[in-house]
Amino acid sequence: MSVVGIIPAAGAGERLGADVPKAFAVLGGRPMVEWSLDVLREVCDRVVVAVPPDRVEPPDFVAGGATRSESVRNALAAAPEASVVIVHDAARPLVTVELVRRCLEALDGVDGVIAAVPVTDTVKEVDAGQVVSTPDRGRLWAAQTPQVFRADVLRRATGEATDDASLVEAIGGSVRVVEASPENLKITRPLDVRVAEMLLSC
Ligand code: CTP
Ligand code: MG
Repeated sequence: MSVVGIIPAAGAGERLGADVPKAFAVLGGRPMVEWSLDVLREVCDRVVVAVPPDRVEPPDFVAGGATRSESVRNALAAAPEASVVIVHDAARPLVTVELVRRCLEALDGVDGVIAAVPVTDTVKEVDAGQVVSTPDRGRLWAAQTPQVFRADVLRRATGEATDDASLVEAIGGSVRVVEASPENLKITRPLDVRVAEMLLSC
């Protein structure tokens, strides 16, 4: 069994507004992507990183695409040996080896596993400023990464989505949830950098 890590790190980081692509913005004294790279390397046989085309210098750094899904596909294409794939966003630098291992271990008997947390806000579906529905919060989880998949299933799961599990779900794949921590936060806006710097320093 060959476990390959994939790190989508090719986004521009528009909402963060740094002067470099988000994954290369300095966080806790190093480029953000390096935190995730260190963690995945502990668990995987090999890690492929999808980066902006002008940053493909190091080995196993491949050019990402115009969308996150395309970046994941480009990295997957560079890892034909993979039997299991662990996808983890560079934008979640506080991931732990323990969480990645728990997700990998949960793959037994299913096609995919996602780290997720129960939502704490009440979530509204809104159309043109008008509330359409209020799904029962007790059944809602916020999806994170890592997301772990059987490689053959992930290869068949084509299309565009904000996470990989939804593409696997769309082809009928079974996806299990592993409860993660809100500390595995996603760096999206400047506030998230402040919170992450605080968590990294204690
Ligand atoms: N990503 C990617 N390729 C893309 C777009 C996003 O590899 N074409 C990656 C990002 O680098 C990030 C992850 O997917 O690690 C989650 O995306 P997001 O948080 O939206 O990051 P950005 O797209 O960089 O940010 P923004 O949407 O604010 O521009
Ligand atoms: Mg984006």
